[in-house]
Amino acid sequence: MSLSETDETITYKIILIGDSSVGKTCLFKKLTTGVYSDKNISTIGIDRKSISLKIKVVENGVELEKTFVIQIWDTAGQERFRSITKGYFQDSQGLLLLYDITNKDTFDNLDKWISSVKDSLGDDDKEKDKYIIILLGNKLDLAVGDDRRVTTEEAMKKCEECDIIWGGECSAKDFTVEELTNKFEAYTKEIFQKIGCNVQRDSTATKAVKNDKKKCAC
Ligand code: GTP
Repeated sequence: MSLSETDETITYKIILIGDSSVGKTCLFKKLTTGVYSDKNISTIGIDRKSISLKIKVVENGVELEKTFVIQIWDTAGQERFRSITKGYFQDSQGLLLLYDITNKDTFDNLDKWISSVKDSLGDDDKEKDKYIIILLGNKLDLAVGDDRRVTTEEAMKKCEECDIIWGGECSAKDFTVEELTNKFEAYTKEIFQKIGCNVQRDSTATKAVKNDKKKCAC
C-alpha cells in the first residue's frame, strides 16, 4: 500500500467532560501548553484551544497522511454549570469523558454523563453515527495499591455495556505531552473511522474556526 499526502484539513471538535476535579483542565493545559499546575481552580464556563496533527489514515484502501485540526474544549464539571456545558455537546464529534481512577464516585457518575450526551445528541443509529464517546481514566500516578478505586477491567466492561470507546488511562501530571498527543491521535483516528471528513453540522467548531480566521486577518 502506498502512502499519499492530501492537502485537505479536517477539523474535529473534542469536548472534555466529566465530574468536577477529575482533571479536565490539567489535561487540557498540559496537552495544549505543556504546563501542568497543581492549583485547584474550578473551571467556570468554557475554554478552547486547537492542536494540529498529521496522521496516517486509510481511506478507500489507500493509506493517506491527513492534517487534522483538533479543537479541544474544556468544560466545567460542576453541577451548576451542567446546562451550559450541555449546550456545547451539540456539535462535537468526540466527547472525551474523564473519571478519576482514585475516586469511585466519579466512575459511578459516568451513567449520568453518558445519558446526558445521548439525550442531547440522539441515540438512534443515524445520530449515533455523528459522534463518539471515549472514556479516559485520569490520575494514574496516584492509583497505587489501595488508592486505585476503579480497575482497568471495570472501566473496559463499562465501555462494552454502554457502547462507548475505551480511551485508556493517563496522568495529566506525569504523562509527557507526546504521550498525551499519542492518545489524541488515536482518538482522532477513531473519529475518522466513524465519521470521516463528512462533518455536516454547522457547528460552533466551524464558527470558531471562522472567527479565528477573522482574528488572524485583522
Ligand atoms: P472542574 O473545572 O471543576 O470541572 O475540574 P477539572 O476536572 O477541570 O479538574 P482540574 O483539572 O482542575 O483538577 C483538579 C485537581 O486534580 C487539581 O488539584 C489537580 O492538580 C489535580 N489533578 C489533575 N490531574 C491530575 C493527575 O493526573 N495527577 C494528580 N496527582 N493530580 C491531578
